[in-house]
Amino acid sequence: MKEKLEQILVKASAELEAADQPQKLEELRVAYLGKKGELTAILRGMGSLSAEERPLIGAKANEVRTAIEAMIASAGERIKARETERRLAAEKIDVTVPGTPVRMGARHPLTLVRREIEDIFTSMGFSIAEGPEVEFGYYNFDALNTPANHPARDVQDTFYFSGDMLLRTQTSSVQARFMENHKPPLRMICPGAVYRSDDVDATHSPFFHQIEGLIVDKNIGLSDLKGALTQFSQLFFGPETRVRFRPHHFPFTEPSAEMDVSCFACGGSGCRLCKGEGWIEILGAGVVHPNVLRMAGIDPDVYSGYAFGIGQERLALLKYKIDDMRLLFENDTRFLHQFY
Ligand code: PHE
Repeated sequence: MKEKLEQILVKASAELEAADQPQKLEELRVAYLGKKGELTAILRGMGSLSAEERPLIGAKANEVRTAIEAMIASAGERIKARETERRLAAEKIDVTVPGTPVRMGARHPLTLVRREIEDIFTSMGFSIAEGPEVEFGYYNFDALNTPANHPARDVQDTFYFSGDMLLRTQTSSVQARFMENHKPPLRMICPGAVYRSDDVDATHSPFFHQIEGLIVDKNIGLSDLKGALTQFSQLFFGPETRVRFRPHHFPFTEPSAEMDVSCFACGGSGCRLCKGEGWIEILGAGVVHPNVLRMAGIDPDVYSGYAFGIGQERLALLKYKIDDMRLLFENDTRFLHQFY
């Protein structure tokens, strides 16, 4: 029986050493120490032993049991440690592997230009206003001294909804709205999209953006307009920039003018950018017509003002030397990524 116990120990030791899974270990524990295990069977058979043999075999059996228990415990530790090691290796993060590139967005050139214009005018004390793109004919035309028979109101030029609703053709509609809700002195700019029934080509689009400006106060005249817009042009295009006003007609301003800036590419001597003229048109402007003030409930004998409308696309094309306006609306990110 003693040899039998020793054999069990040797066998158990070999099997436990080879065990590499928790289930395998549990199987072995049951096989040796369980109720129906080999060691238990021997202990059970001790009744048949002589009185001298019994304590000796009993002691040996206990020794073997303790040894097997210790081996099971250490095999358990070993399996657990190996499992931890395996998991650490499998879950290891290699921080040196190059990451998946995240493509950064870039600001649209129109946004860049709008923000720059906003910065310049807010630094001069203008606030920023907004108005609806779907507008009443009243604000887009009537309140701006543009009577029903004016050609700009033609369906050839303007997108109409039913009734008196249309897509605004100019941000000047916001002038009219702003004067209804604000008492002079007032000073605002309004950037936004406008719509006209135009065919698309390199310099035309049925959808584009303007920035309207309006100031109404006592003793405001053409010289104020000239000063502010000259200052704006020099801040936007550079300190050498000169401006020139050409007489023009807008129903809501009198006198009215279009303003050109000296070409910032050639300084005025004539080049491809300015088409040899030395000058580039950037906006329309004028002294607010007394009828427009009157329509808004402002007394033109007390107050006067000026207004202007800048084409945002035009400034973006000039600033970034883009030669086709369609590029601004096609949203090809390869193109747009050049600006930031
Ligand atoms: N609304 C005019 C246009 O769209 C521009 C303008 C604005 C002119 C304000 C004078 C004053 O052409």
